[in-house]
Amino acid sequence: MIPGKSISFDQERQLWAAALKYLERGRPGDVEHTRRVVAYGKTLLDREPGNPRVVVPALIIHDTGWSKVDFSDFVDAPAVDKKDTASVRLHMHHGANIAREILEAVGWDPAATLQIVDIIAVHDAPEKIRASSNLDAALVFEADWLDKYGQASQKRYYEIFSDNGKIEELNRYLEKNKFVFFRSEAAKGLLSEITSKGKGCIHL
Ligand SMILES: [Fe+2]
Ligand SMILES: [Fe+2]
Repeated sequence: MIPGKSISFDQERQLWAAALKYLERGRPGDVEHTRRVVAYGKTLLDREPGNPRVVVPALIIHDTGWSKVDFSDFVDAPAVDKKDTASVRLHMHHGANIAREILEAVGWDPAATLQIVDIIAVHDAPEKIRASSNLDAALVFEADWLDKYGQASQKRYYEIFSDNGKIEELNRYLEKNKFVFFRSEAAKGLLSEITSKGKGCIHL
């Protein structure tokens, strides 16, 4: 974490209150997913020099855009093509707009707001995140994608996809790409912590 940067309990609560209005109307489990990734993000911030005033709000708000999207193409697409579906692109676009609205309404620092909006606009595009040298963007991406490897997500996939073949395919994709997705030492460490809890989560 960058010394001197922090986010207060009240500020976080204010952001949660605004984001929940959208998250509750998104995909099944989006609220719980968001709670987990915020916790992962904070763990990463304990171990990497990221800015919590960017990473934490970005994670709280990152998936609010699903509330404005018909995600049936996401559900139907093969695992390797999910990130290229129209609904994934659209949820990033809407999420970036929602982030701007929420952050302006609470009077968030304009420079941080700009960064958060930019990160949310690409948060589910691994190749765009990889092409960027922005550590905060990488930490947001890593916290979000780490959750795909956890036990809770495995249960959630059954709610969203209700198709064992699709879930196995998704897990093969995650397994194959784990060394591509996670670059920070903190994320690699957290990945082994998450997956070593094993049982029910994918076998890594
Ligand atoms: Fe997302
Ligand atoms: Fe997410």
